Amino acid sequence: MSKRFYITTAIDYVNGQPHLGHAYEKIIADVIARARRSLGQETFFLTGLDEHGQKVQQAAQAEKKNPQEYCDALAADWQAFAKKLELTNDDFVRTTQPRHKEFVQATLTKLNAAGHFYKASYTGFYSAREETFLTEKDRLPDGKFDASYGDVVELKEDNYYFKLGAHQQWLIDYIEANPDFISPSYRRNEVLGFLKNNTLEDLCITRPITRLNWGIPLPFDPEFVTYVWFDALVNYASIAAAHPSLELWPADIHVIGKDIVKFHAVYWPVMLKAMGLPLPKQILVHGWWQKDGAKISKSTGNVIDPIAVINEWGLDAFRFYVLRELDIGPDGNWTDASFRSRYQAELANGLGNLVNRSLSMLKRYRNGVVPAKSNELATDAAKAADETRALFKQSQLQSALQSIWGLVNRANKYVDETAPFKLAKDPAQAQRLDEVLYNLAEACRVLAVLLWPFLPGTATKIYAQLGLPGSPDKLEAATWGGLPSGHTIGEPAPLFPRKDV
Ligand code: ME8
Ligand code: MG
Repeated sequence: MSKRFYITTAIDYVNGQPHLGHAYEKIIADVIARARRSLGQETFFLTGLDEHGQKVQQAAQAEKKNPQEYCDALAADWQAFAKKLELTNDDFVRTTQPRHKEFVQATLTKLNAAGHFYKASYTGFYSAREETFLTEKDRLPDGKFDASYGDVVELKEDNYYFKLGAHQQWLIDYIEANPDFISPSYRRNEVLGFLKNNTLEDLCITRPITRLNWGIPLPFDPEFVTYVWFDALVNYASIAAAHPSLELWPADIHVIGKDIVKFHAVYWPVMLKAMGLPLPKQILVHGWWQKDGAKISKSTGNVIDPIAVINEWGLDAFRFYVLRELDIGPDGNWTDASFRSRYQAELANGLGNLVNRSLSMLKRYRNGVVPAKSNELATDAAKAADETRALFKQSQLQSALQSIWGLVNRANKYVDETAPFKLAKDPAQAQRLDEVLYNLAEACRVLAVLLWPFLPGTATKIYAQLGLPGSPDKLEAATWGGLPSGHTIGEPAPLFPRKDV
């Protein structure tokens, strides 16, 4: 049994419908998972839902449902959403599942027995919306707390704490010795800065059932449930343990958003160390989307409904836009104008036009029969394939798309330079036309292979239009010359219909 490449996403709170930010993160992880499989690596991709805690309990109360029924109904929507995005996840975790709850409880029992926890009393200002006690540092100059915290009330309560003091130095050393552990590097620097300039406060791991009962009961004290982060983070390990026949742990990549870096890069490593498990190889942190330069927010109506976009423009256009527009790291800004402009320029006029005219000319001039092999675009194709392979290994998805479009643009330019429609009029140019048609058809085939992790539907259509069996899901097939001469292609059809807007 060999270790699988194990990639996870954050698990989303089920207190509403999925939005652009959720879709973006899941697509990042899906493309990396597909890319790894295309590279020939056995891969396991996990995503799912974070169902416990105050946010979910309150959302259920607001709809007068019991929390489990509320979660069950929404979980069906989120699972349908994962299908809509054509995610290739191998499992879907819900933190209310017994397999997860039992693992969390066993972990708590073990860590408690090993002396990692203590019980203490705390008085402070509490934000229910953020599920967190606030400190003096959180006060605005006028002494109030920011409106984003919602109602803030003074609370005194007993809780269990996880001792973090002993962990600070080894974690600093570990992050310094492992430059790729937190990516991009500016997020790593932020975590290091935080760890070097602050003393870690012990982590509160419970909530009294009087305040929150929607959680995993603490196995050694029935007055408490597990605080949602100690529950949620553990999903990565509980689901790995739920597949004992696969070697999954440690995770290779945790894909997360920038707001939850501290939980993943500080608390989670410390929890793992206490659990006696190795640390994940990488925490890959993406930025946040805005829309039209403002925060995405349900209350102000500044939202993008990914399902509506997909229904109108197609899944692959959506997958393409979010990864081509925004590198993994910085924040992004969705505008409908930029979405349309990339659709027209890069998908319809770029890739779509290339494939459609290449295959249509092959059909018209050679009855769809592939001519003898020719290597004029072989170097360009090899360059795109080599770059893409290297960039896949570094999860550099935006750069990979740029490299692939280098080949799209080169091939489109080749059509303009060689003018096959003119060659076709001159019988003396028949051999030259054969060469051009081979290069174009083979470039389309290589593109299908390179594009498969990003645009699986489009890549599969290109293969079908080329009359090739199976799907272009193995990068080794990107080698030039795979299209056999004498082979008859299928029916060309537009991949990205032009839209008048
Ligand atoms: O934080 N742009 O869940 P969540 C990009 N349950 N990404 C965004 C985003 C945006 N506008 N809004 C949210 C939680 N996200 C916890 C995680 S993991 C053990 C527990 C991202 O539903 C966000 O950064 O609030 C996070 O990675 C994910 O969506 C889920 O957010
Ligand atoms: Mg959040």
